[in-house]
Amino acid sequence: MKITFFSHSTYMIEIHGIFLLVDPFFYGNPLFKKDSKLLNRCIKYFKRIDYILLTHAHYDHVCDTELFANKFGSLVISNYEISNFFEKKKLKTYGINYGSFISFPFGRLKYVWATHSSVFDDGTYGGNPGGFLLQTKDKKNIYLSGDTSLTYEMKLIPSFGTLKISILPIGGVYTMGVEEAIIASDFLQCKKVLGVHYDTFEAIKIDKKKAKEKFYEKNKELFLLKIGDTMCI
Ligand code: NI
Ligand code: MN
Repeated sequence: MKITFFSHSTYMIEIHGIFLLVDPFFYGNPLFKKDSKLLNRCIKYFKRIDYILLTHAHYDHVCDTELFANKFGSLVISNYEISNFFEKKKLKTYGINYGSFISFPFGRLKYVWATHSSVFDDGTYGGNPGGFLLQTKDKKNIYLSGDTSLTYEMKLIPSFGTLKISILPIGGVYTMGVEEAIIASDFLQCKKVLGVHYDTFEAIKIDKKKAKEKFYEKNKELFLLKIGDTMCI
């Protein structure tokens, strides 16, 4: 399994040749507005996108959904309300809610609790915000928390199997910061964290070196990828 980071909460997960894009935020993203060459380099990487996973309806998570779903014929997987929103725009959707695992050709997905909000830019209700618990067929478990604060609900996640890595926001203000993400990794019984949702805007700028040190002091590892970089799980 490969995870390629595209800044903010946007990343591609490749599972044996199947591509899942999470929370696409490219054209409205200030980091890409400043550097269109970087944007083009990232987009060029896309050969296919089989699924688009959306954690909640905020603009910085859904804004390029239509663009990529139309281009690649991707299936949009999200909560029921977000799926309905995109179904009306003629996209292929799969609406789910908090509950059970659902099987897909790449493995299983469960929509899990996030403590946040969820509304589209035009005011349309975006259902309950969430994250995804992903279990691949070769038994790799990954937790994608989406935008969330620290919550006791995270303690349930390891009941479904040991996690390989957790993808957590660390920028603070709108989500967990570094301090909370370290406690989250205790709740999740997962020492490896891929940090997302930082540095995109002024309000969520972090000191990356300090953040890594704080994790290290607690005997944990924080991975921070450069835009366009890939890690193998
Ligand atoms: Ni949000
Ligand atoms: Mn966000």
